[in-house]
Amino acid sequence: MLDHLGQTKRTHNCGELHKEHAGQKVTLMGWVNSFRDHGSVLFLHLRDREGITQVVFKEDYDAELLARAKQARSEFVVAISGRCIEREPVNYNPNMSTGEIEVIAEEMKILNDALTPPFEIDNCRAAEDLRLKYRYLDLRRPEMQQNFKLRHKLALSARRSLDEMGFYEIETPILTKSTPEGARDYLVPSRTSPGKFFALPQSPQLFKQLLMISGYDRYFQIARCFRDEDLRADRQPEFTQIDIEMSFVQPDDIFSVIEPLICELFKVAGVEPPARPFLRMPYAEAMNRFGSDKPDMRFGIEFVDLKSQFDGGPFPVFADVIRKGGAVKAIVVPGAAAWSRKQFDEIGDHAKRYGAGGLAYIQVLESESKSALTKFLGAEGIDAVIKASGAKAGDAILMIGGKWDVTCNALGQVRLEIGRRENLINENENKLLWVVDFPMFEYHEDDKRWYAMHHPFTSPIDEDIDKLGSDPGSIRAKAYDLVFNGSELGGGSIRIHRSDVQAQIFKSLGLNDEEAREKFGFFLDALSYGTPPHGGIALGLDRIVMLFARAKSLREVIAFPKVASGSDLMTDSPSAVTPEQLAELKIKSLA
Ligand code: AMO
Repeated sequence: MLDHLGQTKRTHNCGELHKEHAGQKVTLMGWVNSFRDHGSVLFLHLRDREGITQVVFKEDYDAELLARAKQARSEFVVAISGRCIEREPVNYNPNMSTGEIEVIAEEMKILNDALTPPFEIDNCRAAEDLRLKYRYLDLRRPEMQQNFKLRHKLALSARRSLDEMGFYEIETPILTKSTPEGARDYLVPSRTSPGKFFALPQSPQLFKQLLMISGYDRYFQIARCFRDEDLRADRQPEFTQIDIEMSFVQPDDIFSVIEPLICELFKVAGVEPPARPFLRMPYAEAMNRFGSDKPDMRFGIEFVDLKSQFDGGPFPVFADVIRKGGAVKAIVVPGAAAWSRKQFDEIGDHAKRYGAGGLAYIQVLESESKSALTKFLGAEGIDAVIKASGAKAGDAILMIGGKWDVTCNALGQVRLEIGRRENLINENENKLLWVVDFPMFEYHEDDKRWYAMHHPFTSPIDEDIDKLGSDPGSIRAKAYDLVFNGSELGGGSIRIHRSDVQAQIFKSLGLNDEEAREKFGFFLDALSYGTPPHGGIALGLDRIVMLFARAKSLREVIAFPKVASGSDLMTDSPSAVTPEQLAELKIKSLA
């Protein structure tokens, strides 16, 4: 029989009793985490959000109570009253916040029973799919509860900082017209306008710009965003941004809001905040030095440019690449001269996965360095490359030649892989930087057209606007990303605030006037009614929590996440709906 709570009141949580409480009568409520039955004595660990307390049932104290306690099982919900006593110092448990005390039980109510959980809450080694199917149990685990406490504290701190800096939090619609952020939209059919659809917002981008047009000056929102894109460890289809927009600003004004906000978040997470101002690095430099627009600067191995070494030279592959306007870049890996053929092959395959034609290398030795390129360059040519790269005996030089962007990216991935394999990344270090001056457009070979690298509402750098018609690839944008330990934490830009420039950008992106009006007419109209210069940024809240929690995936910091197939294993959604529901929406499923 289960007991009623009745007038029983909780006096403390399961994480707060210390030796100062010894002698007090206490009532705790929580879940049975574990127990050790020694016959005449039973030790029961009671768990709640705040911690675990050891409760002791003794036969010589109350035999009947001991017998009742033995009926409790893992995850039963109980209320226990008793006396808090200090343990003998030899029995202190330094692993528990309540390790100095225990509670001698005097009364117990079993408030609810529980089925045997499919995995141990206390010591979970279950596969992730099982954890996600029973997410409500998984979320009971102390590690998960720590993550959500941290998430709450970080979000609260962001809200406080932004409030102090004069921002209003304003909600924007979830049922809306889509703003392109580079992913597919989730669509919601309209019952009242059959055949028409809302899109779930990929971000509140246009709405926050409209709020600037409406004179709200400083907006923020902890905003849910939806993107139907392939999942990765750091991507979910439904995620949360700290979304920000400000009027009458330049990038520096945005940085001077975000930097103190981020430093506060560091403090909340108990991590030494970085020095301000954060480093700023133009996109071109980040690519040329690290092969990434989100460089992980916790380790070196920067690129060396070997274009002049190979230009017009005897190694036909690289000479050809350079003749066609491409790049030849290298990294010097300390100690890698001793790598096996297999190790070089594996790294070569890694480079190929990212589009490199291949990976050439030189094993730098005291005398007669080894390389497949010797037959083209001769020993002297090899020595010249070694000298140019700054390598020394014992190092290996890894080289890739090809189109500039492909070469940078592939070698950047090789650099990261080597960082991981050789344990070069100091996990205790934190490196933050702004990557600035992104290109405005990127060209997609598959459909032979230009796309906005950030989004189409981003302003070009003033002195580059003239190149819109002639050389779109060379136009830089007033766009910036915040990068933390090789991860993109946030991105934003100064926006276009003139409707003529906005119309021009739409045209460059292949949208004719009619299409632009159909998609963004309301916005082009709004721009014409007195739009202040404005700009903003969105920080990925889930990513921030993941990095501070040192979690391996966003799923550890989102309460009810989706898996790689985009589905929710707990609710088993998406799921079929009834024919009546479809009929009401005038929709026929072809599946
Ligand atoms: P952007 O698309 O760069 O910019 O997104 C901003 C930040 O949101 C996070 N993020 C994600 N987090 C988890 N899962 C995802 N699928 C995901 N996609 C993005 C990242 C990213 O840096 N409207 C613009 C912002 C602006 O211009 O103000 C935008 O959404 O941390």
